[in-house]
Amino acid sequence: MAPSLYRPVRIGKLNLPGNLLLAPLAGFTDRAFRGIAVEWGADLTYTEMISCEALYRDNAKTLPMMERDPREERFAIQVFTGTEEAAEKSVERILSYNPSLIDLNCGCPVPKIIKSGAGSALMKTPDKIASLVKILGEGHDVPVTVKIRTGWDYNSLNYREAAEAAVNAGAAAVTIHGRTRSQGYGGKADWAPLKELSELLPVPVFGSGDLFTPDDARRMLEETGCAGVMFARGAIGNPFIFKQTRHLLERAEEMEPIEMKEKLNTALAQYTRSLSYLDELRASKEIRKHLCAYTKGIPNSSALRNDLVHAESREEMERLISDFLSNFQ
Ligand SMILES: Cc1cc2nc3c(=O)[nH]c(=O)nc-3n(C[C@H](O)[C@H](O)[C@H](O)COP(=O)(O)O)c2cc1C
Repeated sequence: MAPSLYRPVRIGKLNLPGNLLLAPLAGFTDRAFRGIAVEWGADLTYTEMISCEALYRDNAKTLPMMERDPREERFAIQVFTGTEEAAEKSVERILSYNPSLIDLNCGCPVPKIIKSGAGSALMKTPDKIASLVKILGEGHDVPVTVKIRTGWDYNSLNYREAAEAAVNAGAAAVTIHGRTRSQGYGGKADWAPLKELSELLPVPVFGSGDLFTPDDARRMLEETGCAGVMFARGAIGNPFIFKQTRHLLERAEEMEPIEMKEKLNTALAQYTRSLSYLDELRASKEIRKHLCAYTKGIPNSSALRNDLVHAESREEMERLISDFLSNFQ
């Protein structure tokens, strides 16, 4: 029998029970959502990207982004920086939040980030990736990893050079998003570089790009031989994808679809969880974009969506959802 495509992965000293990862997603992978993703089967979760500069300056908004949900037995803190100085000054602070691994962002295409030499700007300077990995990994044994793109643009597809520089500097795993910086999030992700790096590198290689269904994940694992898959947009409002993918990989059949009631209750559970660290108004604002994603595709849900994004309390959220469900039945 062929070995299961759902399998453990070792990243330095970190053992993952399986190979289904929740990507870092700025604006989305907050503590509440990460906890929900773990409940639905994510084997590793990543914080939103966090500025090293903000960290050593003790930015009050940034520090809570590194707090883990009680369900997150393992979690990765992803950081971005364009300078060795900021990396060095922030390591102690990062470690004080006890991450299972530290990931360096080498893929963010946002102009403001690139201007500071961080994110995908690093794809232009593999040497700097190497020095940042070294600095972030000095003096402790928490694995350091990198998340790269295929290159800055089509004329500079240097993923191989960037990945090798990172690994030679001590990176314990590499994730590659199969797009260039100039592609942003458009076009189709190219999985060929993922296959190439999976064959080439002595460390686990994870794949990112166009994973919207469990079958996309199966195809990526099968076609590229990568160690694991990282769900990004496909997991927004859809943490169920982890359980569904594991089911598909282990049993070669699709799981029963998730019922509407379960979807809405999961959204509510995520909101409730955020109330343990945010006030009601802030939590209500944070959950809006998630609610839009959770309710997408539910028949006749546009009025519900409209009401939910204006709700400002738990009581209101619960009432809207239970009214919608009872009208439906
Ligand atoms: C809204 C949004 C926020 C993102 N934030 C981050 C981030 O903070 N760090 C990072 O490395 N990648 C980030 N990404 C990239 C994703 O992690 C992922 O690599 C990319 O979306 C490709 O996967 P997909 O096509 O399956 O969505 C972000 C993507 C989106 C759409």
